[in-house]
Amino acid sequence: MQTISARDSKVMWHPYTPMKAWPEAVAIVRGKGSYLIDEHGKQYIDAVSSWWVNLHGHGHPYIAEKVAEQMQTMEHCMFAGFTHEPAVTLAERLLPLLPGDMRRIFYSDNGSTAVEVAIKMSLQYWRNTGTPKTRIVAIEGAYHGDTFGAMSVSARSIFTEAFADLLFDVTFIPFPGTDNVQESTDALKEVLATGDVAAFIAEPLVQGSAGMRMYAPEVLETYFALCREYNALIIDDEVMTGFGRTGTLFAGEQITTGPDIVCLSKGLTGGSMPMGITATTQAIFDAFLDDDKSRMLYHGHSFTANATTCAACLASLDLLLTETCTASRQLIAASHSKFAERIAAHKHVADVRQTGTILAIELKDDTASYHSGLRDKVYRFFLQRGIIMRPLGNIIYILPPYSITEGELNYLYEAILALVDTEL
Ligand SMILES: Cc1ncc(COP(=O)(O)O)c(C=O)c1O
Repeated sequence: MQTISARDSKVMWHPYTPMKAWPEAVAIVRGKGSYLIDEHGKQYIDAVSSWWVNLHGHGHPYIAEKVAEQMQTMEHCMFAGFTHEPAVTLAERLLPLLPGDMRRIFYSDNGSTAVEVAIKMSLQYWRNTGTPKTRIVAIEGAYHGDTFGAMSVSARSIFTEAFADLLFDVTFIPFPGTDNVQESTDALKEVLATGDVAAFIAEPLVQGSAGMRMYAPEVLETYFALCREYNALIIDDEVMTGFGRTGTLFAGEQITTGPDIVCLSKGLTGGSMPMGITATTQAIFDAFLDDDKSRMLYHGHSFTANATTCAACLASLDLLLTETCTASRQLIAASHSKFAERIAAHKHVADVRQTGTILAIELKDDTASYHSGLRDKVYRFFLQRGIIMRPLGNIIYILPPYSITEGELNYLYEAILALVDTEL
């Protein structure tokens, strides 16, 4: 009998995969805690939480139980003109936890759509309030998703090259590295001063896809305060940073100026199902309340607010808010700090950075890029050792499920040491 991998290679087209160089995928048949198990019985620690989505470990029985319950009660219904308990309860529970003063929840299906909705809301907000503004500002290196609006507000890179002419024009301010915070702030101020900025969108504290690039809360505070001063909306894209990744439940909590819109996905369901949320203030919502139907928001997806998925979100939230989960996140952060100190001075390490449960190690590499030659070698090195760690070019990182144990973390750290000691 053919393996699942072999059958896959005849029918499948995988995301973010050079299909010529990587025709075979590892077939996963089971997930338990921090591990994924392949069709040959090999176990892998999921060091990157399956593209940053998994919070509580794979196959969590509590989430499974709540999902099964909801599936048997009412799996899904259209969400225009209809509503249901799990969607309302989730909104009621989530809104007070979000940064700023969020009052309304708009559901969609993934991080890109959460961002897409945020962009549409921002642009239409200004149109509806009679002062049309059309410019969006983002941070150089940003990644906000793969739909056209989300691509437009993301870095012009190899990811978007094929569509460059079709993306709308966005102003990118320099990434605030250690020596150019002022330059970046000045660039933001300059574009805000034109009076045409509808919204500023940011990945708060950590730019994920750009290579886990981190910046201080004080910088974000300055950006957000400037946006307030110049009357531009603030979109806080917490798709990756949300649900405890950065030390607080949401990265935006670490600053005082609240955003106008918050985007969520990934950890929202604990990583069990796809779901996106765009949360807004009352003022944004109110700008769409009108007898004139051209002012309503024309957006929605077939599976908006899927009831089963909402049940998964609620179950994940229950787990996230336990003391055990808080303690796990603290343990991960403390372990990362210790390991960061240990490896920082290594001759093959260019930089080590950490925010909360995210640890990134930049390896020295003359050809650094997303398709760095080092990347495939490093990926295979970890895979052979039963670790799923998908480097971003020459940057390796650990962004684990909160179920990970100290022993499992140590296994990851030792593997990283083995890589830099023996393979580079
Ligand atoms: C900050 C951020 N926004 C949006 C997205 C897009 O999310 P999705 O892949 O669910 O469309 C991502 C995905 O990595 C992300 O990191």
